[in-house]
Amino acid sequence: MASTLGLKVRRGEGEIFRRRLVEMGAFDRRRKIRSEGEDLYMPILELSREAKEELSSLGEFDLVEAEFLVEAPKETVEELLGRKASFEVVGDIAILDGPDREAAAAILAVHRNVRAVISPLTAVEGEYRTRRFRCVAGEARTTTVHKEHGLRYRIDLERAYFTPRLGTERLRVANLVRPGEAAFDMFSGVGPFALLISKRGAKVVAVDKNPEAVRLLRENACLNRINDIVILEADAADLAEQFANQADRVIMNLPHSARDFLWAAMRIAKDGGVVHYYAIAPEDDLFGRDTAFVEEAASASGVKAEILRRGVVRSYAPHEYNIVIDFAVHKPDKAEEAPEAGPGP
Ligand SMILES: C[S@@+](CC[C@H](N)C(=O)[O-])C[C@H]1O[C@@H](n2cnc3c(N)ncnc32)[C@H](O)[C@@H]1O
Repeated sequence: MASTLGLKVRRGEGEIFRRRLVEMGAFDRRRKIRSEGEDLYMPILELSREAKEELSSLGEFDLVEAEFLVEAPKETVEELLGRKASFEVVGDIAILDGPDREAAAAILAVHRNVRAVISPLTAVEGEYRTRRFRCVAGEARTTTVHKEHGLRYRIDLERAYFTPRLGTERLRVANLVRPGEAAFDMFSGVGPFALLISKRGAKVVAVDKNPEAVRLLRENACLNRINDIVILEADAADLAEQFANQADRVIMNLPHSARDFLWAAMRIAKDGGVVHYYAIAPEDDLFGRDTAFVEEAASASGVKAEILRRGVVRSYAPHEYNIVIDFAVHKPDKAEEAPEAGPGP
């Protein structure tokens, strides 16, 4: 075992770093991660200065020389197919970009756990953010069980939104949670933010308007033995008054229209509460437009928004990115009471 370049990180942050290294193409897939006490050693390829800067936004790490076991190389879909195929795996279902039967056969051959290969018939659409699929190979179904960060989720890809591509972001938010804090997930889907932060000790209210998402969220709470979560089928905006000034943390994962609900998130947040606001932004104005939306909504609500972090979560479409803005809501003293904001004109 010759020593090669490695990244030493704390065990609890290992998955965040691993995923980001894979996304950057900097994870050395030929070698195995090694653990030693509270530390993990990740085998990596050379890192550019930009890559190091990006990694330092995730947490602390050391670059070290370390020894790693070499894994027997596995054939990839790309090698078997002789070209690239774009797909993601949710549970035992692979979602291929298009109805490519050759690629589907290669996926089934390489990923032994995959039982169904499907491709979208529509874009993600409508208020419930769902899409329809066709079966390309294997079993004809859109239901599965997906594992993420130690939790299991029943998913129906046609009936309720789910993407594994936000896994790293969910872990980032979960790592900010303090036990006992009150969290409000305004657009919870089948629960991947809500249940994870509940496991981390937050007292969670999870809301979704789609009855199918709520049904799956209830099942997922049971599946993961989570009892102390409040799950509501509702329009999150309609709950703003009932839950006013109650949340230490508000999650707004409805990136195409979260802007319209900023007033409600600011109402639900306590003084000092943090909001995680997601949006889809063009690459030539990643944060400017949405920072302005946050500031406008704060001013209309009579509160102050203190921007804590702006980050890119993932690329969304050519020249478009899924971004996040974390901000703290500061509310005025009772003496100089804020106007009660509503959805605006
Ligand atoms: C992009 S998905 C996010 C789901 C989940 N947070 C996740 O990470 O998988 C947005 C969710 O918001 C729900 N939704 C849309 N409008 C809503 C509203 N006004 N109130 C509550 N939920 C809403 C949709 O049904 C959908 O499940």
